[in-house]
Amino acid sequence: MAIPRDFINELIARIDIVDLIDRKVPLKKAGKNHSACCPFHSEKSPSFTVSRDKQFYHCFGCGAHGNAIDFVMEYDRLEFVDAIEELAGQLGLSVPREQGTGKRPDQGLSRDLYELMEEANLFYQSQLRQHTDKQKVIDYLSFRGLSDEVVEKFGIGFAPDGWDGLLGRYRQNQAAQDKLLTAGMLIANDNGKRYDRFRDRLMFPIRDRRGRVVGFGGRVLGDGTPKYLNSPETPIFHKGNELYGLYELKQKHRDPQHVLIVEGYMDVVALAQFGVDYAVASLGTATTAEQFQLLVRSAKQVICCYDGDRAGREAAWRALETALPLLKPGDQVKFMFLPQGEDPDTMVRKIGKEAFEALMQQAMLLPEFLFETLSNNHGADKGALAKQAIALIEKVQDTVLQNLLLENLAHKLGMNSSEDLKKKLGFAVKKAQPLNAKGIQGRGTPLRLAIALLVQHPHLGFGLEEQAALKRLKMPGVKLLGHLLEITREQSLNSAQLLELHREHEQKSTLIKLAQWDHQVADENVLLEFKQTLIWLYNQSIEQLYQELSLKQTLTKVEKLQLTKLISIIKGKAT
Ligand code: GTP
Ligand code: MN
Repeated sequence: MAIPRDFINELIARIDIVDLIDRKVPLKKAGKNHSACCPFHSEKSPSFTVSRDKQFYHCFGCGAHGNAIDFVMEYDRLEFVDAIEELAGQLGLSVPREQGTGKRPDQGLSRDLYELMEEANLFYQSQLRQHTDKQKVIDYLSFRGLSDEVVEKFGIGFAPDGWDGLLGRYRQNQAAQDKLLTAGMLIANDNGKRYDRFRDRLMFPIRDRRGRVVGFGGRVLGDGTPKYLNSPETPIFHKGNELYGLYELKQKHRDPQHVLIVEGYMDVVALAQFGVDYAVASLGTATTAEQFQLLVRSAKQVICCYDGDRAGREAAWRALETALPLLKPGDQVKFMFLPQGEDPDTMVRKIGKEAFEALMQQAMLLPEFLFETLSNNHGADKGALAKQAIALIEKVQDTVLQNLLLENLAHKLGMNSSEDLKKKLGFAVKKAQPLNAKGIQGRGTPLRLAIALLVQHPHLGFGLEEQAALKRLKMPGVKLLGHLLEITREQSLNSAQLLELHREHEQKSTLIKLAQWDHQVADENVLLEFKQTLIWLYNQSIEQLYQELSLKQTLTKVEKLQLTKLISIIKGKAT
């Protein structure tokens, strides 16, 4: 079911983007705008600005931009509908739905799934305190050296043995059972008989970024197999999008300097217990592009930590391949390898926080790990090394990193500089663009200025009479201006609301560019400039019509009259 446009419009009107962002990224007033170091890329001086007038944010460094909804989507990594829910929740509103071609028929269902997952979570936690078997779990926890505090912090629980520990609580509630099946908490056998998925296991709840339990990892209390059982993919749990421990980390550090990515749940928990409370784990699979993106946005530095054995090296290499195309200027990714036979859990217990962090300090930078691995792979075969290196370097989007890697490669190949290499390869290495503090450059045409002024100050159009001349005028962009005038004439909007109406519009990117364009027109002159651009457009239309008519061989009576009138207008202007 779709969310009514009016509601979205009202949401943007009622949320103040400066307050919204300031709560997460403290802003400083800078002239008309507010600014901060950009939360979406790493930087030392602030190029992220938020405009109260436009209800819009924009980063001159990385180009991130948008309204309140975009901010929540980007910062909290939520889908559009979830971002709306989040903002509505902040205002204490519930989101209305209208009938129609809804995209999320499961909306009601997923809400129930979250509730049931939370109930399951509380149930497992209570079993740790109440169940008759609880002693063996407490023994196991102490054998693993987990403190009460950390067990509490991560909400670790116990799924008792038996087929219906969880199921038994919903005997009379078929609907809830159906949902627990969907949520992966129950399994149905071939006869349709249902039973608990997690039995006699230590339970690690997996939370999404909003803190909602979306899945579990369950560990046997000893040496049984499988060692870990994880929730399957469900409507609310997508392993590739979540990271174990990210919510807990964000609770502790709003803006972490670094995150450490490790392989196991136990590793995250043990590290936190020893004060390394910025580790996360992927969910039993290789780190995905989505997870990387989440991480480089969460912290300035991402350190990938692996076992020192062959499997660890291979996992690290897969992570490198995933990360390469995603890296943006300023992202730092490092790799660290533990001694044979150790994992972060055993390591931090052995050497403690400080020594562990000292190891982290020695982590390899990405280029170092890349070339070390290539050298190991290819030995003296420089041709093969170059080939694999180039295939990887081609994927890099960040031009600074790309040039750095090419320099490195040239050096490995015994060349003096990477210039020859680039030429030889016909490598289309893009020059690093100097950042332009003024945003989009170049003097616009009056038409461009008119659209920009209108997008930035939509009230200019409010109540304005219809511009008939614009309908005749043939000029790229005129249709867009006419369209915007039509919208703004009818309703009083701010920029953020106007742009929101164009989220799916084919000219969306043009509008966003113009919304951020520094047109250099002082506030007090905006109205005058806008009127002048409309007059200019009107004159253009007269000129165009005059040209058309005067080129015609024969004119109708009406056209003759029109032409005479045009001539007198043009003459009138000349005097
Ligand atoms: P401990 O042995 O309890 O210290 O676990 P660990 O955290 O050191 O786990 P390990 O390094 O063995 O595995 C890392 C991660 O891989 C785990 O956290 C799980 O997500 C996943 N994993 C490990 N074993 C299994 C398994 O048998 N099945 C599945 N599906 N996942 C597993
Ligand atoms: Mn372990």
